[in-house]
Amino acid sequence: MALKVGVVGLRGIGNRHADCHAADALAELVAVCDIVKQRADETAKKHGVPAYYSLKDMLQNEELDIVDVCTGGPENGGWHYEPVMEALDAGRNVLVEKPISNDIEKAREMVAYAQEKDVYLGCNLNHYFTEPARQARKYMDDGRVGEQIYCLHRMGFPGGVSTYSPGAAPNAKGFPYFHVKAFLSHPFSIMRYFCGDITHVQAFMGRPSFRIAAGDPMVSVNSIHVRFQSGAVGYLFSQRGDTTMGLGGWWSVEVGGTKGTFCIENCVEKCTFFPAPGSEGAAQPEKLGLGQAPEPVVHNTGETDFGATFPQRIHAFLEDVTDRVPKHELRASGRDALATLEYTFAAIESYEEGGILVRPFPLPLVEHIPAEREGT
Ligand SMILES: NC(=O)c1ccc[n+]([C@@H]2O[C@H](COP(=O)([O-])OP(=O)(O)OC[C@H]3O[C@@H](n4cnc5c(N)ncnc54)[C@H](O)[C@@H]3O)[C@@H](O)[C@H]2O)c1
Repeated sequence: MALKVGVVGLRGIGNRHADCHAADALAELVAVCDIVKQRADETAKKHGVPAYYSLKDMLQNEELDIVDVCTGGPENGGWHYEPVMEALDAGRNVLVEKPISNDIEKAREMVAYAQEKDVYLGCNLNHYFTEPARQARKYMDDGRVGEQIYCLHRMGFPGGVSTYSPGAAPNAKGFPYFHVKAFLSHPFSIMRYFCGDITHVQAFMGRPSFRIAAGDPMVSVNSIHVRFQSGAVGYLFSQRGDTTMGLGGWWSVEVGGTKGTFCIENCVEKCTFFPAPGSEGAAQPEKLGLGQAPEPVVHNTGETDFGATFPQRIHAFLEDVTDRVPKHELRASGRDALATLEYTFAAIESYEEGGILVRPFPLPLVEHIPAEREGT
């Protein structure tokens, strides 16, 4: 039976979520909510569902399986805590937009409360719900990458001095860490998805001269060096419309291992695999000249619309809840979102302290009932 969903927060992203639920066979969009009456009414009319102007009323009047929170707020996460906690308190499963919060203590509390209430808490870490990411994971799972050596990730909207205008939106204006907190959950989620937990973080950050001249405090250039638990090393470069990235476009990740390397370009578009010389199906080293590498294998999806990630990620959440997967197996869980925020706060600390090495705060233990104890 389809899961009954209510969406809270109905501007650009909330409406996108509502459309995804309405189009997904695993969901039934039954209600929508925004504190701004007109927004709630418009979305309600479009989907033929009741409009609510407070989550409390929606929870009282509707039998919901899932509350989908798209409320944004300061640094794009400041208004997530209240509706998420309210929905968890009512025993509902929750999907929340990223960042899970702009406040690390609140994020920890949200994850702990979902565990206490024994409900699903997922986050819209949508960037790895793509065909290129699936292809890359397959290379890893098939042993074609081998032991990981490095991860290089670049993510940031194209721009430069001629497209700059000081952000006036209340969620961003005056917040030096707007970009860091609102955005880095995405690239950190990608690095962790492919390479596992990060144990060490070192960051340098800054602003281009045109932001400084405009008195814009946003720390929009982020250069972050990391070490993974596996021993692999990684580098993340992120920026917000200050420059335009070259090869790989606005979003590229490259993971190199002892047997092969993959590179994803433009998030949804392309995955290329570069086999190491002498590895499965690749040219033997003696057939290659100095500096030559075996032929890469290119998978081009033909997709360039990043929007394609939303229905795919939302469907995965609906699938996991429908299938009642063990809580620790939920894809892009609240705990996964918390990890990205712990790394973000570690990067801020490193930057503020002049580039010191910071160990991110440990994640909560995974509560996992071993199979032999289940049902006893
Ligand atoms: N995953 C992605 O790729 C992606 C992309 C862009 C934005 N986002 C995230 O989506 C979220 C929403 O973004 P947006 O641009 O639509 O936000 P927005 O600030 O434009 O809109 C938020 C809406 O929530 C409503 N709201 C706030 N608190 C509420 C409450 N307690 N109850 C009911 N309604 C409430 C506001 O009235 C507003 O209409 C942000 O967290 C942002 O970071 C995610």
